[in-house]
Amino acid sequence: MATSQQDKLTVRRLCALKKRGERIVALTAYDALLGRLADECGVHLILVGDSLGMTVLGYKSTIPVTLDQSLHHTAAVCRGVSRALVVGDMPFMTYQVSPEQALRNAARYLQEAGADAVKLEGGAGMAPTVRRLVQAGIPVLGHIGIMPQSVLVEGGYRIHGREPEEARALEEDALAVEAAGAFALVLEGLPTDLSARITQALTIPTIGIGAGPGCSGQIQVVHDILGLFEDFVPRHAKRYADLADDIRRAIGDYSDEVRSGAFPDKAHSFE
Ligand code: KIV
Repeated sequence: MATSQQDKLTVRRLCALKKRGERIVALTAYDALLGRLADECGVHLILVGDSLGMTVLGYKSTIPVTLDQSLHHTAAVCRGVSRALVVGDMPFMTYQVSPEQALRNAARYLQEAGADAVKLEGGAGMAPTVRRLVQAGIPVLGHIGIMPQSVLVEGGYRIHGREPEEARALEEDALAVEAAGAFALVLEGLPTDLSARITQALTIPTIGIGAGPGCSGQIQVVHDILGLFEDFVPRHAKRYADLADDIRRAIGDYSDEVRSGAFPDKAHSFE
């Protein structure tokens, strides 16, 4: 069924959900098929995350993901989605060099891939870049807390904002990203109280991952909730299916039947 222009989620409509007290449902996707399924389920925001590096491309972190890889997968998701807001996640070193570099690369998500917005990691230090993109007409989703593109500096992943000083810095980061014009903010790996406080302090919605129930909405990596990614399961990720087991079982059954000659049978052959 074709989606009309009126059904399409816009950044303005997404922000209105917070005002109405409706929780935002967000999920990652990396291809047209999963994008379409998430869209059919009424997911509001689909992020083509740079988690693509681990879930689909077989890297150990998000660091090796390139702009071309991200654009390729963002375009695929856009082909499958008609209603949800699609956000392309700018990879490491595609926006950190300068606001002008960020602008040139962010524009490609809208013009070449068909995305509705881009996401980039960073707090107050990234505010001038966020402002430059928004002034040029590119909607920006911010991201603070655990920032996987800084994993080498951080030396791993840890919950941020447990100490009062770091909590204060995160609150200032959130306000700076909002003031720079971001339409929403991802909070990753924050204590529940802190993300609730940030959510109340901001006008724009917050979208939490490992940040508790006090955010305006939640985002998860689709491979985690489907039980497809087995290398590690983050504590914040709840499994709603065990698709890796289902796939192994199905491919195992197929292999057995090919080996035994049971497949193809008459029903799957031609006269
Ligand atoms: O890359 C990603 O999937 C993300 C989300 C987990 C927020 O950044």
